[in-house]
Amino acid sequence: MKISIVGAGNVGATAAQIIVDRALANDVVLLDIVEGVPQGKALDIYQSAAIQYSDTKIHGTNTYELTANSDIAVITAGLPRKPGMSRDDLLNINAGIVSSATQEIVKYSPNAIIIVVSNPLDAMTYVSFVNSHFPRNRVIGMSGVLDTARFKAFICMELNVSIENINSIVLGGHGDSMVPLVRYTTVSGIPITDLLPKNRIEALIERTRNGGAEIVKLLKTGSAYYAPAASVVQMIDAIVNNRKRIMSCCVYLQGEFGYNDICLGVPIKIGAQGMEEIVPLKLTDDEKAALDKSAEDVKSMLKVVS
Ligand code: NAI
Ligand code: 2OP
Repeated sequence: MKISIVGAGNVGATAAQIIVDRALANDVVLLDIVEGVPQGKALDIYQSAAIQYSDTKIHGTNTYELTANSDIAVITAGLPRKPGMSRDDLLNINAGIVSSATQEIVKYSPNAIIIVVSNPLDAMTYVSFVNSHFPRNRVIGMSGVLDTARFKAFICMELNVSIENINSIVLGGHGDSMVPLVRYTTVSGIPITDLLPKNRIEALIERTRNGGAEIVKLLKTGSAYYAPAASVVQMIDAIVNNRKRIMSCCVYLQGEFGYNDICLGVPIKIGAQGMEEIVPLKLTDDEKAALDKSAEDVKSMLKVVS
């Protein structure tokens, strides 16, 4: 198993470290455009493997040759928004980065499963899918795993119960209109609506929708990376170990849930083949309306990507 990570920033390097710690691959390659950074971080992580007794090898590089024949390629490369840059400017800049990263990955690793992390996530997954010419089971965006983890964490804080007891799923785009599904949220099988009043559930949903922004505000520079990296690794673990886990991921839709030609967060079965199945869920009219709104938001971003 060989895993390459494009973008040796906070999310990419943290994911690499967890992969090495858990020996989820034989080889990890960390790639970035900044000279020295992927090499330095790879060496540091490699030395941490000596303490963890992990035999995973990790190398840093600025070019794609070393990534050849990767089984999984993770794209975390991107630029943050800078003063004077509009949201649409950023969208197009990151689309350029993600499309060229995808083309390089495809050139060197034609059989890889691509996991997209760069933001705006749903648009970047679409860009990667279109540029890869891969079947849709091999291009998967990470967002629902993180958004679900945030919702579960907030429920856990509110009820003071073990995180193991909590089950939930968040669908839709990785933005303000994401759709935490209350009807599918249980605590040890007990519906959340039996345990918390409506206004508290609404507050937790709102906090989940602002989960990324809350951390940006606290950090002041940069955005969340521990939970995002852990989310990426949960997807990698499901692929590497063929776990057939059902989780919310961003994939290209061809009629599922009533949407076409869009990448959106839906429940999928994830295993050795990547996205092995889109799990159909029956949604109420209100849930479908909320998902429609989220899909509309994603579509408006796709229109901007030239
Ligand atoms: P970061 O700024 O720490 O790392 C980004 C790295 O990409 C930098 O090291 C930069 O040099 C590199 N890079 C830029 N252009 C490149 C290129 N053409 N080729 C290779 N490397 C290139 O950012 P961080 O925190 O690691 O986040 C990475 C991306 O993931 C951002 O777009 C962020 O918004 C997104 N993100 C998405 C999440 C999700 O749920 N989908 C969660 C957290 C972050
Ligand atoms: C997050 O949700 C920035 O998308 C990133 O933390």
